[in-house]
Amino acid sequence: MACLQVEDISISFGGLKAVQDVSFALEPGEIMGLIGPNGAGKTTTLNLISGLYACDTGRVLLNGKDVTDKKAYERARMGLGRTFQTPRFLSRSTVGENMKLGTDLADQMGFLKSFFGKKGNDFLDEVDQYLEIADLTVNWKDDISSLSYGQLKRLEIVRALLSHPKVLLVDEPAAGLNAKELEKSVALMRHAAEKGVGIVLIEHKMDMIMNVCDHIVVLNFGKMIAHGTPEEVQSNEAVIEAYLGR
Ligand SMILES: Nc1ncnc2c1ncn2[C@@H]1O[C@H](COP(=O)(O)OP(=O)(O)OP(=O)(O)O)[C@@H](O)[C@H]1O
Ligand SMILES: [Mg+2]
Repeated sequence: MACLQVEDISISFGGLKAVQDVSFALEPGEIMGLIGPNGAGKTTTLNLISGLYACDTGRVLLNGKDVTDKKAYERARMGLGRTFQTPRFLSRSTVGENMKLGTDLADQMGFLKSFFGKKGNDFLDEVDQYLEIADLTVNWKDDISSLSYGQLKRLEIVRALLSHPKVLLVDEPAAGLNAKELEKSVALMRHAAEKGVGIVLIEHKMDMIMNVCDHIVVLNFGKMIAHGTPEEVQSNEAVIEAYLGR
């Protein structure tokens, strides 16, 4: 069963049709690219899926359950994780505090348990494992403000993964990252996908998209102009015209 199904979702802002009748399905363990020019409606699509915006039309299903009328925090508890185009962290707090807050959102019991008994050690072990994959040499006690932008971008994915999402929405994880950091960010997403997480990945770096995605949806002016394998999308005339260039 698809872990995420999007059926004809749309939203307008005043006269602007930001997202129009977008549909796709994502299976567990798949990485789906969501690409298109600036302003095409990619982030807005994620906002509709995560519940930050309400759909004007259409439905969003998480693991077969219709969540269209659910609030963002309810969807998060049902297994929907996300990162933001600009990383969002609590300032004046430590890496550890920010990581625990991520968990709290999806699993309050797990959060409480993380302070007591064995579960706490498991949680710290898991954080350490992800930090290693992400090649983040940050300390649990480091102040969040001491981290670079590239570190924050990767840490945001780690935080989202700690809530054990079934579906992860990632908005431009490579922006501002150097080649080595980008590789680590990909490793983190691949690791999650291997564990069965379905991932929707927005990214402008085409080599990364073509490299990691099982299938790709292309948006232009809010509409889907293509959906297919990397090969299909790369050779699609409409996509070349609108986005990839000649
Ligand atoms: N809350 C809002 N109110 C009004 N217009 C909005 C709102 N959110 C997005 N838009 C508009 O909807 C369109 C799609 O924006 P969106 O942020 O989804 O694009 P994007 O594909 O993510 O672009 P980028 O690659 O630049 O991040 C844009 O024209 C944007 O200005
Ligand atoms: Mg965007």
